[in-house]
Amino acid sequence: MADELDLDDARRRYHFALAPEDLDRLPFYAALLARLEDDEGALGLLASVRAEQRNPMLVLAALHRAALLGHPILAPLYDAIRHDAPTDVDAAADAVIAVVRAEPDVVRSQLWRSTQTNEPGRSAVLQAVVRDLVAPDETMAVIDVGTSAGINLFFDRFPVRARDDGDPLTLVCEDEGDVDRATPLPRVGARVGIDPYPLDLGDDDDRLWLKACLWPEERRRHERFDAIVARYRAWPATTLLKGDALDRLDDALELAANDDLRVVVNTWSAFYFSEPERRAYYEALRERGASSNVAWVSIESTLVAWPGFEETSDERRRGASQVVVSRPGEAPVRWGWCHPHGRWVERLSRA
Ligand SMILES: C[S@@+](CC[C@H](N)C(=O)[O-])C[C@H]1O[C@@H](n2cnc3c(N)ncnc32)[C@H](O)[C@@H]1O
Repeated sequence: MADELDLDDARRRYHFALAPEDLDRLPFYAALLARLEDDEGALGLLASVRAEQRNPMLVLAALHRAALLGHPILAPLYDAIRHDAPTDVDAAADAVIAVVRAEPDVVRSQLWRSTQTNEPGRSAVLQAVVRDLVAPDETMAVIDVGTSAGINLFFDRFPVRARDDGDPLTLVCEDEGDVDRATPLPRVGARVGIDPYPLDLGDDDDRLWLKACLWPEERRRHERFDAIVARYRAWPATTLLKGDALDRLDDALELAANDDLRVVVNTWSAFYFSEPERRAYYEALRERGASSNVAWVSIESTLVAWPGFEETSDERRRGASQVVVSRPGEAPVRWGWCHPHGRWVERLSRA
């Protein structure tokens, strides 16, 4: 007999899907999530997803994908929202819920996929951390675990500014604390990604899913994605390894053997690991870092509880991402906090 669906858990997941600051910025997704958490059918759809992917973003992306493919009701709604046309967001959210009720297969048929949002905004945080980790005369390798389409392997290609300058590639990031934006970035050698489902920016279906994982109200992210697709072939070569973090970590480290420092990065991917996998991954990195030139940068939800890191009671930080860093031979430390998409970064003072 199938396991009973945990609708309360699904309700809670819809309820906390967005950080409070994002709920304020994204009235359409806020209205839609409020309705999804009240709708039996939508609760059942989310509750039916395999545990490690039971993320409301999967449901939102499935609906967005249908809109991008021209669904007669969803396409005009999402199009208006993406283009900032005046929209009654409550009426729009009601219309989307009506589609979920009438055509649950629009969502159900996509639930085999994974949330694979590939967010370059996290590169703004990576740039700041890497300046701390790597001496300017050293070369570094970046090993991105849970790389999706590998966009953050190009972390050094994005200008970071406090204010929008009109360049679609610019990452707008507000810095708090002692964040170094002045030191030149180190030279990057190997760029290796690991993912059980690596996505290909050159493949139509993969590109569609990456777009669907973006939020329709954030036009700038769509423009940035299009700019990346137009340019990435002219950027340095990357290697994407198919497989789980633990299975491919040593292969990736091997490919990076020629660089002075090998920086293993996970940004919103350990969130999707099972608990035993997360523990084993942590131990593997501690072990590799103890005996060789391996550093670690983790940018993850506060729900990813690394050993020894206390939960925060600060409301803003709870909805943020925690930045944990370890240097070779040293224990991991909390480097700071950031917005989940890198809209702000807070560098804690150095001990
Ligand atoms: C939300 S995406 C984040 C992608 C990218 N790190 C970023 O920040 O833009 C999570 C990624 O983790 C990958 N992932 C899930 N489980 C994994 C595992 N066990 N090992 C490696 N990657 C995994 C997923 O396939 C997905 O591409």
